[in-house]
Amino acid sequence: MTGDALGDAIAADVDAQVDAATAMTVAIDRLKAASPDYSWVGIYLLDGHELVLGPFLGAPSPHTRIPLDRGICGAAATQRATIIVDDVRADTRYLACSLETRSEIVVPIMAEGRVLGEIDIDSDRVGAFGEPDQRLLERVADALGRRLTDAAAS
Ligand code: SME
Repeated sequence: MTGDALGDAIAADVDAQVDAATAMTVAIDRLKAASPDYSWVGIYLLDGHELVLGPFLGAPSPHTRIPLDRGICGAAATQRATIIVDDVRADTRYLACSLETRSEIVVPIMAEGRVLGEIDIDSDRVGAFGEPDQRLLERVADALGRRLTDAAAS
């Protein structure tokens, strides 16, 4: 499956779930399976001025609550934009989750211009993330944004 077809398939799966919690779990499961480079895959949800760790696959992270002014996670939510870090050892914002992590991508989950949370993926390989990963994850984040908003409305 190409990246775009995979993004469409995961988005359809997210749309099809009965509740937002299951939709997030399905998204995490399918993303973790998408690439051997994706060593840690998780979702943070915005709660006030903090990002709270939701479902994840990979080693437990010490960062279960991240203030918006900290980490790559805080930066992506604040800038409302995807951040790719090719080498986390060279980025002073980085909060370590695992000693093996070398690169990271964080993609905001938004609805109507508002940040609801984000998808965070770590890799043990330097420079693991590029434009195809960004496109895939933004497609899934878009579906999650709709699903999380529907859930809030129901
Ligand atoms: N590396 C993130 C923290 C989350 S852990 O990677 C799971 C950051 O710098 O915000």
